[in-house]
Amino acid sequence: MNLLEKLNLLAEKIDVEVKTLKTLEAVEAFKIKVLGRNGALTDLMKELRNVPKEEKPALGKRANEIRQAINEALDGLTKEIEAEVLQKKMEQETIDVTLPGQPVTQGHPHIIEQVMQQIEDLFLSMGYEIVEGTEIVSDVMNFERVNVPKDHPARDMQDSFYIDDHHLLRTQTSAVQPLVLEQHDFTKGPLKVISPGKVYRRDNDDATHSHQFHQIEGMVVAEGITMGDLLGTLELMSKEIFGENREVRFRPSYFPFTEPSVEVDVSCFKCGGKGCNVCKQSGWIEILGAGMIHPNVLKMSGIDSNKYTGFAFGTGPDRMAMLKYGVNDIRQFYLNDERFLNQFIGGTK
Ligand code: DAH
Repeated sequence: MNLLEKLNLLAEKIDVEVKTLKTLEAVEAFKIKVLGRNGALTDLMKELRNVPKEEKPALGKRANEIRQAINEALDGLTKEIEAEVLQKKMEQETIDVTLPGQPVTQGHPHIIEQVMQQIEDLFLSMGYEIVEGTEIVSDVMNFERVNVPKDHPARDMQDSFYIDDHHLLRTQTSAVQPLVLEQHDFTKGPLKVISPGKVYRRDNDDATHSHQFHQIEGMVVAEGITMGDLLGTLELMSKEIFGENREVRFRPSYFPFTEPSVEVDVSCFKCGGKGCNVCKQSGWIEILGAGMIHPNVLKMSGIDSNKYTGFAFGTGPDRMAMLKYGVNDIRQFYLNDERFLNQFIGGTK
């Protein structure tokens, strides 16, 4: 068999064999087998050396044709196989959009925040404005301007964290009173404000005391405001938080910034007034301090106390939440234990 015949025979064999190749590895192995250093075609091309000179160009051309054809065939095959592999992979990896998704845990406001929001919503609906004071305040705003002069014994109950000789972490949201009073323009209508926020006291933390807690201050000042307005307002708030059938009672009390001053009790939401463990058998639960704003407080903020009167109250959302949900340790609110907090996902109602 001469070289041309051998080349043609090889070409035929290759044609047949290429059709049997199914994987990229097989294609690669076949390429080496034919075109590699000791491949079948390479071997035949070595024989070119021995043929007569005039036959060399034609044989060389034929050998090159075959090599080119093999390369083209194998390249085409490689692309086909790669496409098939990709297709299979895509089929295997299709996403079933009807499968149930991974549940995402949704957060919820802290229980104290929920109580505060509920009270805020109520007062907003009655046309009150919400004012946020700062947590660092001057001694003047926290005490003097709400009628607690230096050396007044009422200061003893509200020791705090001092930043310097004149600034402290506020002990009461009442510290916003002077600011709000002096900024209000009474020609534009009555002053109706609530101010929620954190307050601080140098208390030893125990089940009912935390060095940091929350208060909501409320104030209404206009011509002709009376204690009747205060009673009606607090009754509404008590019903909103503790339920429709609550009654409210005032007990005389003392605060330097109000005259007269009252402490406010709500009829026990658990026993309805008969006496139980929540109300310590009294039938009543104390929820806040309030009163008619002391004329001195109005005067110090430049308000004519003969013309304008007003009421103020200060209440504690922490205490409200404790009473409402039977939480017996205030520190629970601040431990960030999800087992505790997740009991209150459903809102305050
Ligand atoms: N600031 C008082 C406290 O922290 C609470 C309070 C009582 C606020 C009577 C008032 C009020 O506005 O009229 O104990």
